[in-house]
Amino acid sequence: MMILKQPSSFPSPLFLFLFLITSSVSSSLSPTAAPTSSPLPPSSSSTLDPKQLRALQSLNIPTSRDPCSPSSLHNVTLCDSSAPFRHLLSLRLANCSDDVALSFTALKSLSTLQSFQFLNCPISPIRFPSDLATSLRFFTCIRSLRKLTGVWLSRLRNLTDLTVSHVSITASGPYVILGNMKSLRSLTISHANLTGFVPKHLNRNLTHVDFSGNKLRGKIPTSITLLENLETLDLSLNWLKGEIPTSIGDLISLQNLSLASNSLSGSIPESFSAIPGLVHIDLGSNQLNGTIPRFISEMRSLKFLNLENNEFHGVIPFNESFIKGLEVFKIQGNNNLCYNHSILSSKLKLGIAPCDKHGLPISPPTAKDDGDDSMADDSGSDYDGNDENDVSHKEANHHHGPNKVVLGVAIGLSSLVFLIVFSILLSKCCR
Ligand SMILES: *[C@@H]1O[C@H](CO)[C@@H](O)[C@H](O)[C@H]1NC(C)=O
Ligand SMILES: *[C@@H]1O[C@H](CO)[C@@H](O)[C@H](O)[C@H]1NC(C)=O
Ligand SMILES: *[C@@H]1O[C@H](CO)[C@@H](O)[C@H](O)[C@H]1NC(C)=O
Ligand SMILES: *[C@@H]1O[C@H](CO)[C@@H](O)[C@H](O)[C@H]1NC(C)=O
Ligand SMILES: *[C@@H]1O[C@H](CO)[C@@H](O)[C@H](O)[C@H]1NC(C)=O
Ligand SMILES: *[C@@H]1O[C@H](CO)[C@@H](O)[C@H](O)[C@H]1NC(C)=O
Ligand SMILES: *[C@@H]1O[C@H](CO)[C@@H](O)[C@H](O)[C@H]1NC(C)=O
Ligand SMILES: *[C@@H]1O[C@H](CO)[C@@H](O)[C@H](O)[C@H]1NC(C)=O
Ligand SMILES: *[C@@H]1O[C@H](CO)[C@@H](O)[C@H](O)[C@H]1NC(C)=O
Repeated sequence: MMILKQPSSFPSPLFLFLFLITSSVSSSLSPTAAPTSSPLPPSSSSTLDPKQLRALQSLNIPTSRDPCSPSSLHNVTLCDSSAPFRHLLSLRLANCSDDVALSFTALKSLSTLQSFQFLNCPISPIRFPSDLATSLRFFTCIRSLRKLTGVWLSRLRNLTDLTVSHVSITASGPYVILGNMKSLRSLTISHANLTGFVPKHLNRNLTHVDFSGNKLRGKIPTSITLLENLETLDLSLNWLKGEIPTSIGDLISLQNLSLASNSLSGSIPESFSAIPGLVHIDLGSNQLNGTIPRFISEMRSLKFLNLENNEFHGVIPFNESFIKGLEVFKIQGNNNLCYNHSILSSKLKLGIAPCDKHGLPISPPTAKDDGDDSMADDSGSDYDGNDENDVSHKEANHHHGPNKVVLGVAIGLSSLVFLIVFSILLSKCCR
């Protein structure tokens, strides 16, 4: 009959990571570059293959100027230099209007394309003619082609770069898509609601793997650490569990690692210390535990470190110059973690408690039992949900903080008192 509501002690900043991840979509060919509009002399006759010219027209791409002349059409197209007619090497469809439709005939004449990009073109996908499917090296599809299937993508078997983002993909797993792609070097399948498991067998030449924002389950396969050329690994925002492979340190080329927002457990593997060039480590919002290893503070290239919302404990092994050298540092949301206040100032606003002399977090400053003068000036500033975080430069949710617990208990207690008084009054009047 009486409900005492405890404030939730679970932090909830999952959304933060959307920012970090949507920016990692990359494409490696020039046509995505910024528009350049230099005045062109009108060309009397196009040098482009007439069949391809008609295909472009059918796709609503203006051809009043020669699509093969340099910087024409803001690099929507790129041509080879064959004679008598030139052929398209690259085509980008962006911000399509509703009346654009892909036709098989048009696509058949485009089978010289090595790069095909769709940006914000939610048109219906059709089966690519096999000549086109195998000639493509670069394929990009961002918020385009409505729904794709794994089988549809798997036909693009000669790709070196695949980017599919914010498009839903139906497949029983990534292996359906990737099984035949033997030349892949850069792979992004993000925010695609892709189900299944991270593939055990990936091309050894991959330098970039981004599966962020999907529904991938299971463990991170140990075999992923065989990808010795891997520079970026982003598996964030999935449903992965289990531990980080202890052999993660074999990824000696790794620069960016994000495993954020999964359900990973266990501790940070020792072998991390063997990766020389790590710039970006994001392990936030998992259930990682153990202490934070000191070797992280010796990573010379590190710029971004996010360990927030985990279950780490102990004293953080960082000094002020290390923390200030980072562009982003996030550590809050680890209830058993604390900082040594003779090394770090509370002004850093790390979002965690200072340590007592046993290396345990000092319980939140209650009324005035805080005799420690190094904390006296602004004690509590670490806790009270301040909106601005000096170190992280990022919008952080400070929904989490011991003061809220105090507040919650206070509210609970006063409700309790109220209820008691109320029921006494009630029992008196109704007797
Ligand atoms: C790698 O991390 C850096 C620093 O956080 C970031 O600026 C960069 O965009 C990331 N690169 C890739 C390919 O994700
Ligand atoms: C457009 O393509 C040409 C090659 O035809 C290239 O030299 C130029 O850099 C590209 N422009 C941009 C802005 O990428
Ligand atoms: C697509 O449209 C958006 C705004 O509607 C614009 O910012 C963007 O530059 C366009 N993209 C291309 C590649 O034209
Ligand atoms: C594409 O790959 C197939 C094998 O899958 C190969 O036979 C063919 O020569 C490749 N095509 C091109 C244009 O490289
Ligand atoms: C993925 O699924 C969610 C919910 O099921 C939906 O809101 C979202 O639009 C889907 N994403 C894509 C790219 O289809
Ligand atoms: C990896 O790259 C090397 C050199 O770039 C190439 O010789 C080799 O065939 C590639 N291996 C695979 C599996 O693509
Ligand atoms: C860390 O988590 C693992 C797996 O959940 C568990 O087995 C282990 O006991 C935990 N260690 C500590 C120090 O909490
Ligand atoms: C801070 O720690 C780094 C190692 O992480 C060390 O090289 C540096 O000397 C320390 N700075 C101070 C002022 O103690
Ligand atoms: C905090 O740092 C001081 C000075 O380095 C050291 O003497 C003390 O033991 C540290 N306290 C904890 C709890 O690690």
